[in-house]
Amino acid sequence: MRHLLSAGDLSLAEATSILDVAEEMHTIQSRQIKKLPTLRGRTVINMFFEDSTRTRTSFEMAGKWMSADTINISTKGSSTSKGESLRDTMLTLDAMGTDCFVIRHGSSGAVAQAASWVRAHVVNAGDGTHEHPTQALLDAFAMRRHFGTVDESGTGGDEVFAGKRIAIVGDLLHSRVVRSNVLLQRTLGSSVTLVAPPTLLPTGVEQWGVGVTSDLDEVIEGADVVMMLRVQRERMHGGFFPTEREYTELYGLPPQRLARLKPGAAICHPGPMNRGLEISSEAADAANSLILEQVTAGVSVRMSVLYHLLGGSPE
Ligand code: CP
Repeated sequence: MRHLLSAGDLSLAEATSILDVAEEMHTIQSRQIKKLPTLRGRTVINMFFEDSTRTRTSFEMAGKWMSADTINISTKGSSTSKGESLRDTMLTLDAMGTDCFVIRHGSSGAVAQAASWVRAHVVNAGDGTHEHPTQALLDAFAMRRHFGTVDESGTGGDEVFAGKRIAIVGDLLHSRVVRSNVLLQRTLGSSVTLVAPPTLLPTGVEQWGVGVTSDLDEVIEGADVVMMLRVQRERMHGGFFPTEREYTELYGLPPQRLARLKPGAAICHPGPMNRGLEISSEAADAANSLILEQVTAGVSVRMSVLYHLLGGSPE
């Protein structure tokens, strides 16, 4: 694997290998001394041109726990704020001997463009409304553990996803998480249904090969996982729904809708959450909420991704 730019680039074998190695990495998180020598001498630069809590911190932890030298760069404090182009910034840092760039950028396609300029490996940590492949991988990791199919050797089969029904609900139009999840979950064998008001459905969604509806109540009882997506107010220019109250009633998870989930069904949210808008506190903090498990999985999965890119084959 040279880069990780899109969840659609991963074959079933590659995705399963990342999830299996993440299981090994997961054990590190419960240790007192969280350090492996795996990436000693390798340099990973985290370049975040958009805000992040989970992704940036977990990539930094992942690199550090595997003994890589990790460096963080953001727009403020780098020469991009003086007008240097992304290309010149990338070429400059690549020329210093960087081994891997982890990039978040506000423009869809910018990370793939950056990858075409450099010799180093590149991971897409979220590009505009396009993709966020490591989020989809960590979601799958948390789901796989939830489904309880991780065997005693610490690895789970990919067959666990076959026939599972995943409902992805909310602001799909502005979401990079939904695109990566659809691509990955289709590879893994799940059945995905997208749920959103018509105004928040992406153009061409009917060609994505998934179910699409605007009625959450139609799918809530059959779902094995309900993934709630953040209403991205910062990307909205105009009114996409009449009122927040109406949105919450139709597309939120208040207690009365929560009660209709089937036993064993899980709630996911990639974060950050708008509590009281797309998700109620009762749902976010429910026993079957995987939200903190998703965060924990973020470090293990990103360790595994860096390992696959920089550390050689799992064998
Ligand atoms: N889910 C996610 O990407 O969160 P951050 O924006 O905090 O990284």
